[in-house]
Amino acid sequence: MKRTDYCGTLTKKDAGRIVVLTGWVHRRRDHGAIIFIDLRDREGIVQVVFDCSDTAKVGAPHAAPSQFQDQSHALRSEYVIEVCGKIAERPAGTENQEIQTGEIELRATDLTILNRALTPPFSIDEEVEAAESLRLQYRYLDLRRPSVQEKFILRHRLSRSVRRFMDENGFLEIETPFLTKSTPEGARDFLVPSRQNPGTFYALPQSPQLFKQILMVSGFDRYYQIVRCFRDEDLRADRQPEFTQLDIEFSFLESTDILALMETMLSDLFRELKKIDLLPPFPRLTYQEAMSRFGTDKPDLRFGLELKDIADLAAHSPFKVFLDVIAKGGHIKGINAVGLAKSSRSEIDALVQEATTRGAKGLAWLKVTEQGVESPIAKFFTHAILNQIRERFSAAPGDLLLFVADSEKVVYEVLGGLRLLLGQRLGLIEKGQFKPLWVIDFPLLEYDDAEKRYVAIHHPFTAPRDEDIPLLDTEPLRVRSKAYDFVLNGSEVGGGSIRIHQSGLQSQIFELLGIQKEEADLKFGFLLQALQFGAPPHGGIAFGLDRLAAIITCSESIRDVIAFPKTQKGICLMTQAPAQVDSKQLKELHIRSAYPS
Ligand code: AMO
Ligand code: AMP
Repeated sequence: MKRTDYCGTLTKKDAGRIVVLTGWVHRRRDHGAIIFIDLRDREGIVQVVFDCSDTAKVGAPHAAPSQFQDQSHALRSEYVIEVCGKIAERPAGTENQEIQTGEIELRATDLTILNRALTPPFSIDEEVEAAESLRLQYRYLDLRRPSVQEKFILRHRLSRSVRRFMDENGFLEIETPFLTKSTPEGARDFLVPSRQNPGTFYALPQSPQLFKQILMVSGFDRYYQIVRCFRDEDLRADRQPEFTQLDIEFSFLESTDILALMETMLSDLFRELKKIDLLPPFPRLTYQEAMSRFGTDKPDLRFGLELKDIADLAAHSPFKVFLDVIAKGGHIKGINAVGLAKSSRSEIDALVQEATTRGAKGLAWLKVTEQGVESPIAKFFTHAILNQIRERFSAAPGDLLLFVADSEKVVYEVLGGLRLLLGQRLGLIEKGQFKPLWVIDFPLLEYDDAEKRYVAIHHPFTAPRDEDIPLLDTEPLRVRSKAYDFVLNGSEVGGGSIRIHQSGLQSQIFELLGIQKEEADLKFGFLLQALQFGAPPHGGIAFGLDRLAAIITCSESIRDVIAFPKTQKGICLMTQAPAQVDSKQLKELHIRSAYPS
């Protein structure tokens, strides 16, 4: 016997055919004389009927009927079987419209049990939810679930479409090393000791950033790679220590060209994979605008609830908290929690708590009612100012306004966070919606209070905007960069920039970042040198492919689209990596462990 079809592909058109199927026993209903099996493979499920009644003419010539009967009764969940028989239309009234194969069944005449299975620790059946830790421990079983497999099939199609697009647009796929030197992307490196060079370490790449720039110097003009990147950072739902980038670099293009090309790629992807039109051009918000309207540089545009500034109105009140913040150059902003004036005192207290855990010193609130307003701070404002505040938020009776006064950073952190929380709580995020945008004109630098130095917001190879270059010497924090982020549904899915292609400017930026010449030479000497040998103007972008796949498959976490992901503590529950190694291995690597095994 040899498989003739995948289970999930059979339809009414196949009625009458003799087929051989292989797969796993998904569900089993044993009625004694008749046994129904849902047989599952990668492509879906089909019903198989074993007629074990004595009158039934069963069994291939070589198999005694009794053996067929015994084997049929022995079937259990997740047994691997091969089954032969004829496809027949199901008796009227027993069809299942929910599945593609619901109008037919396989009437089995021959059965081979290829392997038995222990009772799975959780059901592979869709409807039964199991704890994620158990699912990750038995990931091979979890990956058998049809809904999980669907995500990986979609992810495969995503990579395939991307490769085709890249190829059609003249990009060459070129591999770059994993055993390399540190590439700064803001995380810690994973290090690999070198046995042959005692006391030295390779770093796993946080991205292929420097190599792709060097490939531009080499004249490859357009490069891409679907590549694993490694970052030792605190993990969250959208972060893994190893993840995949669609990494792109090109020469002789302006950022507007690459954004337009990427928009075409993304809209093609959504049309092909989701049958959804994401029409270019996508909105472009400057960093400043994104922050002031949404309190974040990765705004979720699926709903409104925009932040509004009321500092000008607050300035007319004697409320000391507000006046002090204004005097210190801080911000007073608010958000309209539409329809939440009905909130009880304890519900409002919970919102205040949400605000303070995000760093606010308080959260002033104002209920708009048919009678007027109700608020602990109403007494500080005249009727006219209260009306102006209401108008600014287009607030109607039933709405609840929330205000934070603090430094710009805290106001954005708190209100940006509350906005997301309220968007979810108020049910404003419609499922199946995709709202892309670009965030542009990021500042080049920020000041790191702990390290007492400037740090690059994107990475140190990002070019400043030409007109802002003079500010590098005078007001570095006001310099804008040629960086851009691609944001989808509130998630930073891609980021890139036009690079510095002159070694002089690159050295100046290193200096500004407090990287001394010797250190720069040691770490990036090869790049500085390469830039002096005819580096073309170039730039690029990298998309987080896991994040893109997670959003496209409507997954909660990127763990759902990574076959063997790690937990928040960086552990693979299936293999139990990371693990101790034996002392001989360490000795060969010239390493002594502080945690002897
Ligand atoms: P950046 O650091 O912004 O840029 O990374 C690009 C994209 O990679 C994804 N990403 C991650 N996904 C999962 N887990 C992680 N730990 C993780 N870290 C990043 C994000 C992010 O937008 N070399 C530059 C790109 C360039 O300038 O061309 C870079 O790596 O979706
Ligand atoms: P208080 O006068 O300190 O009792 O504060 C009056 C109201 O203002 C309370 O509802 C506080 O939560 C709120 N409040 C206090 N500090 C701030 C702040 N920095 N921003 C916004 N509201 C605040």
